[in-house]
Amino acid sequence: MIKKIIKYIKHYFTSKKNGHGIHSPFVYNLVENVFSNKNAFYDFEELLKIRIDLEHDNTEIIIDDLGAGSKTFPSNKRKIRDIARRGISSKTQSETLFKLINYLNCNTIIELGTSIGLNTLYLSKSGKDTKVYTIEGSEALYNYSSAFFSKHKAINVFPVLGNFNNKLPELLEKIQTFSLLYIDGNHTYNATISYFNLALKHKTESSIIVFDDIYWSDEMEKAWLEIQNHSEVSISIDCFYFGIVFFRKENKQKEHFRIYL
Ligand SMILES: C[S@@+](CC[C@H](N)C(=O)[O-])C[C@H]1O[C@@H](n2cnc3c(N)ncnc32)[C@H](O)[C@@H]1O
Repeated sequence: MIKKIIKYIKHYFTSKKNGHGIHSPFVYNLVENVFSNKNAFYDFEELLKIRIDLEHDNTEIIIDDLGAGSKTFPSNKRKIRDIARRGISSKTQSETLFKLINYLNCNTIIELGTSIGLNTLYLSKSGKDTKVYTIEGSEALYNYSSAFFSKHKAINVFPVLGNFNNKLPELLEKIQTFSLLYIDGNHTYNATISYFNLALKHKTESSIIVFDDIYWSDEMEKAWLEIQNHSEVSISIDCFYFGIVFFRKENKQKEHFRIYL
């Protein structure tokens, strides 16, 4: 924990708070329109109300975790309100993903790790033609989130029950290419690198991959460093909570940025 706090302080002092000094026009525009854009979108108010409701939902569920486990929850018995408060993307993170998808017009989104479905709902509302495929291994969370999507009429969300290891290759085979892949579960080195390598086979020049929790463990930091340095990655952005990679060919020289959210 102390290590993560020190890393956060370092990130705070070394990251860009706006586009000043960024020479790449693509990244400059991204920072100005997405990361340092504090404007609220129309849907944010309703999504915040839904978040607050979830933070008071006393439903208890039993979770079978297929991933690297949780550092937040000691047992498998969890209340929805505790997951909503401590186990899902924060308001800032979900709103940033929303703005990123909206700004870059991403229409085919894959989320690894649905949890209770709130972040998925943000993704589903981020664009007019957006389709969101979201994979979850815990049957209890899959059932809870599927009911949540029906309740909120999220007809462009396609929930998938199963292990990422089997379901991601199956899904990629079916849809062939993706606009944005958000990897938010099973935070081990091997799993992260294997999902990345698999996604490389289905990416286009405009595809984006977002890796959540890049500072969760030494393993995750190692994976993130290796991914940044991969020959096919042209731009990488470290937002501390997550890392984002781009494959745009117009960027002849590899560039890495630290951006403050
Ligand atoms: C951090 S939560 C996802 C949070 C959500 N994406 C958000 O932004 O709020 C991670 C989820 O991934 C699921 N998970 C972890 N490893 C998995 C695996 N190998 N296959 C399927 N689901 C997995 C867990 O059950 C958990 O619900």
